[in-house]
Formats: sequence, C-alpha cells, structure tokens
Amino acid sequence: MGRIHILPPEVASKIAAGEVIERPLSVVKELVENSLDAGAREIKVELDRGGRLFIRVSDDGQGMTAEEARLCFERHSTSKITSEDDLARITTLGFRGEALPSIAAVARVKLKTSPDGQRGTLVEREGERVIRFEEAACPRGTIIEVRDLFYNLPVRRKFLRSETTELTRITRLLLSYAQAFPQVRFTLRHGSREIFNYPPVRSLRERLFQIYGPELVERLVEVDFRKNKYHLWGFLSRPPAGRRDRSRQFCYINHRWVGDKLVLTALEQSYQGWLEKGQHPEAWLFLELPPEEVDVNVHPAKAEVRFKQPQEIFRIIRLAVTDILQQTMGVKPITSTSMNKESPFSPTLKDRRYSQEKEERVIRETSEVLFEARDGEVRSIFQGETQQPEEQSIVVLGQFLGLYIIATTPEGLLIIDQHNAHERVLFERYLELYQKKEFPRKSPLFPLVIELSPDQEVKLEEAQSLLQQAGFRLEPMGGRTYALQEFPDILAEEEAKNVLEAILEEWRAEKNQEKFKAILATLACRTAIKAGERLSFSRMKYLVEELLKTANPSLCPHGRPVMVKLAVQEIEKALKRR
Ligand SMILES: Nc1ncnc2c1ncn2[C@@H]1O[C@H](COP(=O)(O)OP(=O)(O)O)[C@@H](O)[C@H]1O
Ligand SMILES: [Mg+2]
Repeated sequence: MGRIHILPPEVASKIAAGEVIERPLSVVKELVENSLDAGAREIKVELDRGGRLFIRVSDDGQGMTAEEARLCFERHSTSKITSEDDLARITTLGFRGEALPSIAAVARVKLKTSPDGQRGTLVEREGERVIRFEEAACPRGTIIEVRDLFYNLPVRRKFLRSETTELTRITRLLLSYAQAFPQVRFTLRHGSREIFNYPPVRSLRERLFQIYGPELVERLVEVDFRKNKYHLWGFLSRPPAGRRDRSRQFCYINHRWVGDKLVLTALEQSYQGWLEKGQHPEAWLFLELPPEEVDVNVHPAKAEVRFKQPQEIFRIIRLAVTDILQQTMGVKPITSTSMNKESPFSPTLKDRRYSQEKEERVIRETSEVLFEARDGEVRSIFQGETQQPEEQSIVVLGQFLGLYIIATTPEGLLIIDQHNAHERVLFERYLELYQKKEFPRKSPLFPLVIELSPDQEVKLEEAQSLLQQAGFRLEPMGGRTYALQEFPDILAEEEAKNVLEAILEEWRAEKNQEKFKAILATLACRTAIKAGERLSFSRMKYLVEELLKTANPSLCPHGRPVMVKLAVQEIEKALKRR
C-alpha cells in the first residue's frame, strides 16, 4: 500500500456508485476491510447497542502519518489505487477512497493512529467539521471509534433494524473475514460481553475448528482444484448430511466474501441427487483468479463481482465439486434430471400448456376466496357465508402423490397439503397445552451436548427465557458448549437437538408474543407428518376433521396455504356444463 493521495477526477468518475453507509453493519465492514488492507494481524471490534451507539475497530496494521490522518477523510482519497488501469486489477479490499468520508458525514468519529508507535495523531470529527487534530500517544496501528450513527439523520436512525438483527449480521460478517484470514486474530465484543476471540492459526481448517467445533470439521471434505488460471479450494460438507438453510455457504472471490449467485448455483447443482430434498450443502469455497479476470467495481457495497468468463467459471466449479463428491462417495448419485423425468402419464406439452393456463386461473380464483379467511372467521370457506359445515358432509377420497389429501364437500373439491394441515392442528394443540401450563417435558438420561456457533449463541441469549417456557432447558458448559437438560416431551431424543437449532435459525426480531408462537410453529412443523408419508383412510379422515376444528384451517402457522378448493361452479364452467 502506497501513500494516501486524492484520486484525479477522471479516475474518481470511473468508480461505481458511491459508498453508502446504511447501517452499523456497513460501518463495521468498511473499517475491518481497511484494517485488513493495512496488513493487521489483530483486529478487535467492539460494539454497543448493536453498533448504533458505538463501534470501535482497532488494529495493529501499518497506521497513518499525521498528514494521512488528515487526508483520509477527504472524498476519493486512497492509498490503494492511482490510475484507471489499477481499477482493472484490484488486489485490496478497498479502492474507492469513499468509506471514511461517508462514515464521518453521518456520525461522530474519532481516529487515533500511528505508523511506528512513536508519533501518533488524534483526529476528532463531527459531521463535516474537524473538532480536534493533535499529536497523541498511540501504539502502531489504527483505532477508529464511530459514535451515534445517523445522529444527524433522524429518519435513517428510525429505520435501523433491531439490535439483535444487526448483531447477528455483524457476527456473520466477522466470521466471514475470520474464515478468509485465519492468520489474523479476530475479537468481537458487544457491551461487556466477548462474543468471540480467535487467536491466529495457520489454516482455514483450524479456523473452522475454532468457530464450529470438531463435529463440523470431521464431516468436511477438502477441495483443491486447479485448472488454467483458476484455483478453487476450501471445504464442503459430506453428503447426505446438509442443512435446511444456506447460512453455511461462504463463497470468496480472491478473498473477498461475495454472495455470488453463479458460484452458489454451480455448488447447489453439483449436489443435486446427493442430498435429501430441502437440504443444502455447507461450503467454504475460495476461488482465486487473476485480478484482471474479475471486476469488483460493480456494486456499491462491493458485495458482487462480475467475471470476464462466467461460463468457464461455472464449468470449473461444477467439475471440481462433482469430482470431489464422486471421489468421496464412490458412487454416482441419481441425478435430478433422471428423477424429474416426466411420468409416462403426463399429458404432452401441447395440451399441457392449454390446461395449465386454465388450471392456474381456476386455482388462483378459488384460492383467493379460500385464503381470505382470517383467524376466527375461517369456516366460511366451506359454505356461502354463515352456515356451519357439517362434518359428515366432507368425504375423504384418498391420498394423491403421497402429499395431498383429496376430499369433497358439497361446494367442491378440496386438495389438502397433509404436512401443512397437520402442522396447523399440532400448533393449536401445543398452544392450548401451553396456555393450560401443561406443556410436558422430559429429561434425557444423559444431557445432550450441543456446540453452538457464535451467531446461534447471540440468538440464544435473547431466546433463552422463551425457549425455557417451551420446554428447552439449556445449561452452559463453558465456551459455546451447552447441555440440553430438558426438552418438550413431543420430541424424540434424536430430534431435540435439531429442533432447537431450527428454532435458533428461524429466530427473528419480532414481538415477544409472536416469538413464542414462532417457537411453537417450528415445533409443530418438526413433529408433523412429512410430505411423502403414506396415510391410511382413518388417519386422513381424522386429520381433516381436526383441521376443520382449528381457528384457521387455510393457513399453516408459518403462513403457507393448507388447501385449495375447486368450487363446483368452476368445475362446471371448465367442463362447459354451464
Ligand atoms: N485501519 C487503517 N490503517 C491504515 N490506513 C488506513 C486505515 N483505514 C484507512 N486507512 C487509509 O485511509 C484511506 C481511505 O480509506 P477509505 O475511505 O476506506 O478508502 P479505501 O479503503 O477505498 O482506500 C485508505 O486508502 C488507507 O490509506
Ligand atoms: Mg476502505
């Protein structure tokens, strides 16, 4: 990194959309990237109130001279590029010279820095004004404090997300850097609590061990694939284990964490046939390629890149991942194309197009009526307006595709999603039990040991008391290890851990009452009949009857539709009987 200077206007004008500071997360991102660019070996991030009150990033990087400390707050001042040519081969995380001025414009900023640990400089700014500029004692490196974000922009301040949301996102962001730079120590503190502190290690594998524990590392396979100018390396989860969400997919292009669609799509495609439905691979994938092969100057937050040869990159990832999976698993999977082959009974494309259109319209119209129903006024879906449905007027015809229950009512045909229906029934039952304070729980013979990831632990702090109400009792065992001492009786021992993790994953910042319902909804979802399960007539009949007794038979507790109705009139219209 050279000395700081202001970019000439012809270079500055080539820089994509100005840096936007939207939230505490963006401040942390820019400051940490600066520390990494300055060659830091230790980066410490301290926050208060999810970062809206206070953010401090300290590093032991190369620091700045007094002159640089003054210049760095000017727009387009950077030490990372000089000419337009440099823009075509960026090797640093930053390059626009816009972050510090943008941050200084919306917060109170204090900078302390020294290039050698002897001469130090202190700068304090408030909005556009410098209110202090003096010599100060400071170890080698840089410390930047950002207070009262958006103090001068009350509207932006009002729209900030909740503290937990912000902290969760920042934790994930810092984990992403910790993974890309294992030789750097990363520390994160929130208020008086240390969320993590990872001492330097030599490899990604060791870093993953620090973050996620031995269980994860044991089930990873290593990728190391070179072709022409490309190098793809990292770790992947070993099938058939996967994850319900994509929270453990990290993709880096030249050490820059990007949510790159191309790479992630190639990854998911390569896993098709290896994982159960609804499961996603875990991946820490690093793609290294010559800097001129990738344009990073396309996205304001630098969260996306553009490849010169996207086709080629897609092909390489598919090749590398498929290769390693076949080596590891030793057999070929049933590929998605062979699984999704049309059944010999499906109509030809031509009549399909016709009937699909029609069907879609019918379903759309009928479902509009059906899904209008709200809590409490739901039964009206089966009749004109007021009349109560008569139970015997519903007849179960059978199961369709192992997923749906087909039933008739005098008004039409019902197609009921068996999983969503059962989920609705269980949810209400759990809610009732809970209200009667009869939510039964059990203790395993030996406590179940759970290793939480840092982001899960952040959520646990907030979720703990509600989890306890729902029957999960966790005791800390040091570090991020917990013992599950008690869990709801409706769960089998092997499920309890997974369900707890699912609850933490789905944990969102909502009102307390909603959060408790969300926990019950997850419990209901995890204990309900699965799609694909064969059901006897008596079970189907029972399920439909129970469903109709619930407060809202048309929506599952997660808000997904439970059934569609084909009204008699619609059927008659479609068949031209009317
Ligand atoms: N933590 C730091 N250590 C050393 N120098 C820094 C640090 N943060 C910022 N700088 C200097 O300030 C300049 C401006 O920073 P910034 O506004 O983020 O722009 P950019 O990172 O795009 O160059 C950087 O180019 C760098 O020279
Ligand atoms: Mg920067």
